Amino acid sequence: MTIVSELTVPPISDGEVAAALEVAVAQVRRNLPAFTYASQNHSSVGNFYPAVANDQWTAGFWPGEIWLAFEHTGDKVLRHAGQIQVQSMLHRIENRIETDHHDMGFLYSPSCVAAWKLVGDEDARRAAILAADRLLERFRPAGGFFQAWGRAGEADEYRFIIDCLLNLPLLYWATRETGDPKYRDHALVHARTTLANSVRADDSTFHTFYMDPVTGAPVRGVTKQGYADDSFWARGQAWGVAGMAISYRYERLPEYRSAFERLLAAYLRRLPADLIPCWDLVFKESDNEPRDSSAASIVACGLLEMADIVGGAEAETYRTLARRMVKSLADDYAVKDPGVSNGLVLHGTYSRKSPYNTCRGEGVDECVSWGDYYYLEALTRLHRNWSSYW
Ligand code: GLY
Repeated sequence: MTIVSELTVPPISDGEVAAALEVAVAQVRRNLPAFTYASQNHSSVGNFYPAVANDQWTAGFWPGEIWLAFEHTGDKVLRHAGQIQVQSMLHRIENRIETDHHDMGFLYSPSCVAAWKLVGDEDARRAAILAADRLLERFRPAGGFFQAWGRAGEADEYRFIIDCLLNLPLLYWATRETGDPKYRDHALVHARTTLANSVRADDSTFHTFYMDPVTGAPVRGVTKQGYADDSFWARGQAWGVAGMAISYRYERLPEYRSAFERLLAAYLRRLPADLIPCWDLVFKESDNEPRDSSAASIVACGLLEMADIVGGAEAETYRTLARRMVKSLADDYAVKDPGVSNGLVLHGTYSRKSPYNTCRGEGVDECVSWGDYYYLEALTRLHRNWSSYW
């Protein structure tokens, strides 16, 4: 990857990682009174997250931050707060509260798989297995994929999205945990369908992809949150990079590694000098469009995941690149003053409205809950030998 030698942002040092981690963990602690018995909104409003009910696709990320902070400190208060969140997640899945979509991995890996792995919380394990079962209900045999949104089989919503790659680790985990191959088997089919259809010839990706509900044949790629159907949504590409790295950890299929490399290279080709992408990679730095800092944190975690697997010079390349991205985030995007924000990282973009997309337009140039989570995960990965929640 020649791009590395052209980069101007230096790699973050171990000392800087430790300092950034302290700042972030202090902010998590500061947020406990507001969010122990509540969820955090998907994005901030004027850089401050409101407290909300546990009914959004993003409700797993704040508990994930609590667990990362617990790992860093060993503090029982954080453990207690994490387990209160587990009870909320269990209630949600048992009562099917806003679970008629595919985002079970985003919800249950950082909250409940984490709680099971770290403190052996049996309710967390039960909630995560129930969530994996729920995700299997979203599988559509005609086409072989998990339907993202809408009612089962609904023609207007007969599609999958690149983001779903991050829901698959819950299934790989569920098979290892229960011994039942059905979870993994469905995940493998979904990943194959995604790679066959979502990745374009230039290694950019479609955000969403429709299939024919009767024949299962590929129909067309369109966007929901990117700028346009044929553009290059930054976070979608980031989900692809991180998702392939984690799938490769579980399965070691050469096509996953190759997809990781190709998606990463396409992403890097479009980055501004500070390594934080515009919300859609169709834009150049000079277009002055909002950034999506969360995409940078997600890609950094994907790089660090792949580095742990491949070893050698390639691992060093990935680690150094991740350190550069995290340096940029820590220096110029992370929150240092709690008076400015109750989040961890500024300048994320959830859904920016364009003339060509179908999103609502919210959370633009704000903190976003997953952006905070992945930033803390990236710092944690750089600081210690971390055992993944995914
Ligand atoms: N998975 C939805 C998003 O990335 O906004």
